[in-house]
Amino acid sequence: MFEIDTVAPQDPDVLEGLDYWRTLPIKQQPAWPDAAAAEAASAEIATLPPLVFAGEVDVLRSRLAEAAQGKAFLLQGGDCAETFAGATADSIRDRVKTILQMAVVLTYGASMPVIKMGRMAGQFAKPRSSDFETRGDVTLPAYRGDIINGYDFTPESRQADPRRLIRGYHTAASTLNLVRAFTQGGFADLRQVHSWNKGFAENPANARYEHLAKEIDRAIRFMDACGADFDELRHVEFYASHEGLLMDYERPMTRIDSRSGLPYDTSGHFIWVGERTRDIDGAHVDFLSRVRNPIGVKLGPTTSVSDMEALIDRLDPEREPGRLTFITRMGAGKIRDALPPLLEGIKAMDANPLWVSDPMHGNGLTTPTGYKTRRFDDVVDEVRGFFESHRAVGTYPGGIHVELTGDDVTECLGGSEQIDEATLATRYESLCDPRLNHVQSLELAFLVAEELSSHAR
Ligand code: PEP
Ligand code: CO
Repeated sequence: MFEIDTVAPQDPDVLEGLDYWRTLPIKQQPAWPDAAAAEAASAEIATLPPLVFAGEVDVLRSRLAEAAQGKAFLLQGGDCAETFAGATADSIRDRVKTILQMAVVLTYGASMPVIKMGRMAGQFAKPRSSDFETRGDVTLPAYRGDIINGYDFTPESRQADPRRLIRGYHTAASTLNLVRAFTQGGFADLRQVHSWNKGFAENPANARYEHLAKEIDRAIRFMDACGADFDELRHVEFYASHEGLLMDYERPMTRIDSRSGLPYDTSGHFIWVGERTRDIDGAHVDFLSRVRNPIGVKLGPTTSVSDMEALIDRLDPEREPGRLTFITRMGAGKIRDALPPLLEGIKAMDANPLWVSDPMHGNGLTTPTGYKTRRFDDVVDEVRGFFESHRAVGTYPGGIHVELTGDDVTECLGGSEQIDEATLATRYESLCDPRLNHVQSLELAFLVAEELSSHAR
């Protein structure tokens, strides 16, 4: 699909446009100590095979278009920051498993297809609020994600190292390879995924979800009794997404599709631009405006209707179905005030973006003992506020975007296991933001499924 040689039609204007961002203000890029080494690493990445294909990206766009029309629901989840050390078979499997388990519950609740997407296979670069971190009397460059520098608090590890670009590519490739194997090779069979969920619902702490779990069980037994056995039960489409932040990675991963002559960022199917880098005249928005991938934009509580309109005009001038997703991250206390005006604004425009709730990034807090955490109840409350706002305005709540892991970590407070401040210390592993653990993720799925089934009524 992508020509490896140079026979692909390469419109010089398209190619030139892909580098226009270099002339614009840019935020959140590393200070590589050796610019020539960084350029060489980027040039090497440009020679490596694409990780995703244009055809898959196009299918995803059509799926997201369905979600924007209220006919499908997006579940996007994974680590805040993937790490190289965390790209093990078990960890990848358990994240995929968690997302699949959530998806079964959501599919039932919504009575709609659920688009499954990992914050996986490329979520290696992080925006930071400060360029430096100080511990005691030592100040070092902030950790920017494994594709840039190391987490250990030493000058050597915190130095940006362009060899990490290459390792990032290979780690993304092996992660995606395993994801594809798990989701195509029988592991994702709906009946098996459902059987994993039974353990959750049988736990007395989750008794309030037993009814819904039993309903799903009856539906599956009914299907079995009818002899239903079709491909969709055994395989799932699973998409890879990450924040398009590190330009020395995203640009060389962008290739011209030989069928259409158009550029695709082949580092992932779906790329989003973060709250800190979505300046309308900045490098990131310009670059993403030129690739064919479906694009997400994070919207925080200070977003104005005119900011939103400008983003639509830049990123989706053709108003193409499935092209643009707004991922709102307002905070539980703000969403009911901040979101409705944006939704009203959309109704007055000729645009139809997909609306997704990120109930994580507006709800951070730090405990007196110094842990960055989030309350499960705030996460749930933000999702509820998201559904309420859409219900009030008459738009579609099209998905959720969550930071989660398949492991039994203790990073977020609350949930049916009642993780408290003292418990956070027992298994806090995230190098960046706190993630829902396996049980909290499933609980969120059951709660969102309840919202979805009432929204449908
Ligand atoms: C993130 O998704 O990890 C992130 C940094 O989000 P935001 O840009 O919304 O702050
Ligand atoms: Co995060």
